[in-house]
Formats: sequence, C-alpha cells, structure tokens
Amino acid sequence: MLKFIKSLSAAALLSVMTFSSAQASENGIVFKTADWQHTGLFGTYDREAAQRGLQVYREVCAGCHSLRHVAFRTLQDLGFTEDEVKAIAAESTFPDLDSDGEVIERAGKPFDKFPNPFANERAARASNGGAFPPDLSLMVKARPGFENYLYSLMIGYEETPEGIDLAEGMSYNAYFSSHQIAMPAPLSDEAVEYSDGTTASVEQMAKDVTVFLAWTAEPKLEQRKNMGLKVILFLLILAGLFYAVKRKIWAELH
Ligand code: HEC
Repeated sequence: MLKFIKSLSAAALLSVMTFSSAQASENGIVFKTADWQHTGLFGTYDREAAQRGLQVYREVCAGCHSLRHVAFRTLQDLGFTEDEVKAIAAESTFPDLDSDGEVIERAGKPFDKFPNPFANERAARASNGGAFPPDLSLMVKARPGFENYLYSLMIGYEETPEGIDLAEGMSYNAYFSSHQIAMPAPLSDEAVEYSDGTTASVEQMAKDVTVFLAWTAEPKLEQRKNMGLKVILFLLILAGLFYAVKRKIWAELH
C-alpha cells in the first residue's frame, strides 16, 4: 500500500516537475535563467519584486507597450492598498464624456485598465521605425519558460559582433531570434530609482519586470496551484481507499 502511494505521488510530482522545468531555447539560443520564486510546485509570486517590476513597467516600458488586459484595481493582489491603487490610477488620464456629451479627459479610476501609449497601431509603428511594440499583458504566458526569455532579452543588448550589418534603427540582441531587434535597449543602470531602495541594476530591473509581467499574465496562478494540490491529495486518498476495498474483497474471495 505504502509503495503504491509512493509511486503514485512520485509520478504526480514528476509530471508537474517536467512541465514546469521546460526550457525555452530557440535557434540553439540558450537563455539565461534566474530563480523564479513562482515557477516551483508551491511557488508564489515575489510581491516585492513584482511591485518593483510595476515601477519599471510604468517608468520605462509603458512609453511604448500597452498592458490592456490589466485593471488598476487588480494591483491590490500585489499588496498595494486601495488608496495606493487609487493614486496610481489617477496618474493616468482617460477620454470620457461630460454631462453635455463633450469629450473630456478625466483622471484614471481603479476600474480602468492601463492606458495605451499610442492612439492606434499605425501611430505605434510610426514611432518605432515600423515595428509594433506588442501588448505585454499576456506575454509571459505565450510559452513555457518565457520568464527566462524575457529576462535574457532585457539583459541581452550587446555590441554588434564583427561581420554583422544591422539594418537602420535596429539593435543587436544576443537572445532575440534574429538578433536584430527594433526595440532599443530599454534598460540601463539606474533607469529607475526604486522606492524601496533596491539598487536598480539592469539585471535587477530585468528580473523585477519579468516577475511583474508573469503576474499580469497569470494573476490566479497561486489559486490554481492550490487547487491542483487539493486535487492530487484527493486522488491519492481515493486511490488508497480503492486499494483497501480491493484487498478486503479479494481476501474474502480467497
Ligand atoms: C522605445 C519603445 C520601447 C520601449 C521603451 C520598450 N519597448 Fe519592448 N519593444 C518595442 C518594439 C518596437 C518592439 C518590437 C521589436 C521587433 O519586433 O523587432 C518591442 C518588443 C518587445 C518584446 C517582444 C520581443 C519578441 O520576442 O518579439 C518584449 C517582450 C518587450 N518588447 C518587452 C519590453 C519591456 C519589458 C520593456 C520595459 C523594460 C520594453 N519592452 C520597453 C519598443 C519598446
């Protein structure tokens, strides 16, 4: 019986582990990895990192990338208070109508989603040499191990190696699939001044913004893991019960 439960739980554990350790590497490019607190079996988001990552998004990435699936009020999940969320929302403005039907700009409210930096895709491309900065809300969910890709991309800007001719307006990035990317290096040391006093090295900001974007892509990850664990426990107990019943029945039949 014990052996049976052991092998069953080992199988369950193995299937979860192989899933979460899937490594993203494309065109033979091996990405840099970091310790992601949330990717483990019982992992939860590092709230402090995610809060710093929000600051990086707002002060750097938001100039070009939208986050259109994320409402300000959900930031409370990251440990912000209701008043802090109100203050963050109020720093953006949104077009609205007044009582006479005139178009006005009003301050953001917690129910608003993060504003789009550009009026439309054409405007976004026009400011980015024809390339489109994709929405970042669900980016990290695009493929398993995307955290490592995003982190690598952020720290992967290098001098262009000899013999490579970059097209106009492109930057060399060791981890981008074609190595030529239309996004100029977004991070440089001290690009933000962290409100919690953490030193804002490129690596630190890259890690923090990755944790934040992992959260925007899957804010309910922790509940899902919790539920998964309950289901596994339930199945283990059920399997144990079946085994006991089977033994009892067969004992009587022998
Ligand atoms: C000056 C504008 C600008 C800023 C600021 C900027 N980006 Fe980008 N980003 C772009 C453009 C343009 C692209 C499309 C690049 C391409 O297709 O070559 C892009 C692409 C990306 C991609 C997709 C890469 C891929 O594999 O296709 C990610 C992820 C990304 N940016 C993340 C970020 C993050 C995180 C920040 C903030 C730290 C940021 N960007 C800041 C302009 C910007």
